[in-house]
Parts: sequence; C-alpha cells; structure tokens
Amino acid sequence: MKVLGIETSCDECAAAVVEDGRKILSSRVATQIDLHREYNGVVPEIASRIHTEWIRPVVGEALAEAGLRKEDIDAVAVTNRPGLIGSLLVGVNFAKSFAYALGIPCVGVDHLRAHVYAAHLEQDIDYPYIGLLVSGGNTVLCEVRGFDDLTVRGTTIDDAVGEAFDKVAKFYDLGYPGGVAVDKLSREGDPDAFVFPMPRLYKGDHPYDVSYSGLKNAVINQRHQFLRPDAADTKANIAASFQKRAVDILLKKLFKLCDDTGIKRVVAGGGVAANSYLRQELAGRKDLTVIFPSLKLCGDNAAMVAGIGWHYLKRGDADGLRLSASPRVGGFRKSYP
Ligand code: KG4
Repeated sequence: MKVLGIETSCDECAAAVVEDGRKILSSRVATQIDLHREYNGVVPEIASRIHTEWIRPVVGEALAEAGLRKEDIDAVAVTNRPGLIGSLLVGVNFAKSFAYALGIPCVGVDHLRAHVYAAHLEQDIDYPYIGLLVSGGNTVLCEVRGFDDLTVRGTTIDDAVGEAFDKVAKFYDLGYPGGVAVDKLSREGDPDAFVFPMPRLYKGDHPYDVSYSGLKNAVINQRHQFLRPDAADTKANIAASFQKRAVDILLKKLFKLCDDTGIKRVVAGGGVAANSYLRQELAGRKDLTVIFPSLKLCGDNAAMVAGIGWHYLKRGDADGLRLSASPRVGGFRKSYP
C-alpha cells in the first residue's frame, strides 16, 4: 500500500510517499527557516499562510520523486496533532480533500508518535523500548510496546529541551535555528567552564520528569554565578556548558528509567535527537542498545507520518472527512508508578 504522508504541524511543509510502512519512495521537506529567521522563532501566522502556498507544489514534488501519479496513491496520512493549529489545519484540509477527490482513506497521525516511529523506517526494531522524544515543543520519556502503545513515564514540567536550546541561542544571538547553532558552537567551547545547576525535582509520583526553565534562566540571567573561576566567559563556553547540562538532565532520567524497567533498548526521535553531544554520550553506553534515526528523519518530515499511518490503515482506522486538528498533546496513556 502506497501512503502519501503530509506534515505541516510547525514550520516544515513536508510530503512523502512510503510503501507498506517502511519503504520511502520519496520525501520532500520544504523548510520555512529563512522566513522566520528575522524573528528568531516561528511566527504561527506566517507559517500557516506559507503552508497554504507550498502544500500543493510540495505534494506534487513528492509524487514526482516517487515516479507516481496521484491515482497511484492508496491512502493519505496526515499529522493532525499536536502543533500550531493554523499550520495543522492546512495539512489536514489538504489531506482530506486529496483523499475525498480520489475516493481513498485518510487517517490522522499524532506527531509525537510519528517521531518515535521514524527510526522504524530504517531498521527493524523489536518492542519494548524506551522512547526518547526530544523536540522544540515536547520532551517525553515513554515505554513503547507497539507502534500505537506508548505509556508516558516522564515529561517536562515546563519548557521542552529544544525550546531551551532555541531561547539560549536567541538571547546570545548564536544563530537560528538555535539547537543547530548551539551544537556547532559547542565544539569550540569548554563544557565545564560553567557548572550550571541540575534541577532537583520532587521525586514522589513522577520520578522521570525533567525541567528546563531553571537551566534556561540560569544560563540567560545568572551565568556569572556558575562560571568556574579559572574559565573564560565566552559564547562558545556558554554554549558548550549549557548543552552539556541540558543533555545530562535528559540522560539522568533516561538511565534511571532503563534501570527501573529493565528495558535496555532506547529509540530516539525529534529535532534534538540530532544533537551531537547527546549522540556521543548515548553511544558510550555499552549496556544499552541505542537507535537514532538518520539526521534527515530526526526533524519534522512526512515519511514518518506515512510510515506510522500505514499501521493504522492496515488495522482499518480511517478518519475520513470527520478528521479535525488539535494543538494539544493527547491520547497517551499516562501511567506513572
Ligand atoms: O522535531 P523538530 O524538527 O520540530 C518540532 O516538532 O519541534 O525539532 C526542532 C527542535 C528545535 O528546538 C531545534 O533547535 C532542535 O530541534 N534541534 C537541535 C538540533 N537540531 C535541531 N537541538 C540540539 N542540537 C541539534 N543539533
């Protein structure tokens, strides 16, 4: 079954064709980065307006790259939550119209589940595993027992990890998008120049939750308090020290979750999964099997949407014209120990 995937939840306008949940026949990602650069962040109104202009040509490119006509497509899968509501609506309405015109099924896909699925496009992965979903809008540690069977074990209580990267980069004018700029500059810096604080969360009911607002505040407003006396107060040192702490916050909870559950397989996804320090630290853990998607599948893309969409379609879950969009995270089983 050839599924057309559509992804417009934020500032990437993406379309892909994936066969049987695995074989990527095409994947096009048109990024709006240049249009949002002057604002140092995504402007929702601009994002949705640009999606309305780009969605048709991007889908056309995905079909052409796959060497297919629209009549060759068997079904459509589209991200319908969570994300920027205006942006999501463009993709959802395009997907519904496309499917209706061709008389084929259309299914809505959760963006976060799609990110966790991304690595499955490149290799066979056995369940269960711990999903590490790290992006600009979300930070989730979950137990994954099937493509649709996720139990959230930890999440951020405030900012997402990617958001912290973006805000630190914006404040210090390091470049846009922030995560990529911090990662690059960190290579020139000393990760121990600043000893930024590790959050101490109440461990009671939610032992795997993380927090980033304190770190963000420390790096932006109080960095001098954390500078080692013999170290230099440079942007590269700020970037490297921030990156180290931001990733260590994640890893501390991830390793605890692996120990507590006995699950030794970890699958990462989302834009921050491209981070080189995160990749390097996880590669060093010989007791864990860590699977990262390739860089092109870490950030937002439509191949992951078409891929996981196939599993829903195969089990008969089509939404058709009643599909709507939602900005909210939802539908996960939250079962905290
Ligand atoms: O998954 P994604 O493309 O979009 C969302 O669904 O949020 O993730 C974007 C996020 C941004 O916060 C961006 O700064 C971050 O991923 N990011 C990185 C890196 N590349 C992208 N963060 C740290 N290191 C990177 N190399």
